[in-house]
Amino acid sequence: MVDKIKIENLSCYYNKKCVLESLNLNVVKNEILGVIGPANSGKTTFLRTLNRMNDFDITYSRKGSVYLDGDNIFDIDAENLRRRVGMLFAMPIPLPMSIYDNITYAPKRLGLVTKKVDLENMVESVLRDSSLWDEVKDRLGASAMKMSGGQQQRLCIARVLAINPEVILFDEPCSGLDPISTAKVEELMVELKEKYTIVLVTNNVKQASRVSDRTAFFLMGKLIEVDKTDKLFVSPKEKETEDYITGRFG
Ligand SMILES: Nc1ncnc2c1ncn2[C@@H]1O[C@H](COP(=O)(O)OP(=O)(O)OP(=O)(O)O)[C@@H](O)[C@H]1O
Ligand SMILES: [Mg+2]
Repeated sequence: MVDKIKIENLSCYYNKKCVLESLNLNVVKNEILGVIGPANSGKTTFLRTLNRMNDFDITYSRKGSVYLDGDNIFDIDAENLRRRVGMLFAMPIPLPMSIYDNITYAPKRLGLVTKKVDLENMVESVLRDSSLWDEVKDRLGASAMKMSGGQQQRLCIARVLAINPEVILFDEPCSGLDPISTAKVEELMVELKEKYTIVLVTNNVKQASRVSDRTAFFLMGKLIEVDKTDKLFVSPKEKETEDYITGRFG
């Protein structure tokens, strides 16, 4: 097992208030690492640190190191990092343009793909990988805003795949979706881990137990425990974990 990401002594702050404390955690290549925990436990802050989205927030600061394939992410170019570490949010937000243009927008802007035929092939490939091709192949020119919520979320996944990342961060990707769309996104995440390394933050404990290989439990800015998912859900080491997964709080 190879570590794709290694987090050492990471602490994060907003206005000097610590919201994530001395985190040590690794993400194994091609795994789905689930991150669960009640509101305000620092899950989103953790994800936004991994691709330096929080660099834009002037109240935010941090200490510690995060290594991606051995390189400290705080030493590499942030744009380049975000290309390697893509992120998906709770609410799918397609651009107000066609399905095709949604997917080609970033790769074109970044100059990753330029020739029309390469763009077309790329669009088909990422739509297949996001389990959307059969549903949209006859209407690639139609507005993305007319798709269902579940389709929009898979389109947003296709957009992330189009920049060819190594790691994908999901922040509660199913919170606005119905059970059928949720099941599709969950199946998709399991397929995607063959090619990508995935960190899945979810408020839905059952979702973590269904799809993640290992699960980390965060509480009030601290990692309480991390273990193989089967083990964490069947015999957690810590009482706080047990209380949370059995629904006694949170
Ligand atoms: N931009 C910000 N400025 C100031 N404080 C923030 C900011 N973002 C988050 N916080 C605070 O940091 C703490 C951790 O928030 P975070 O969003 O990381 O938690 P979370 O585990 O993702 O919660 P949720 O389950 O509600 O999404 C909270 O106390 C929150 O109020
Ligand atoms: Mg959050």
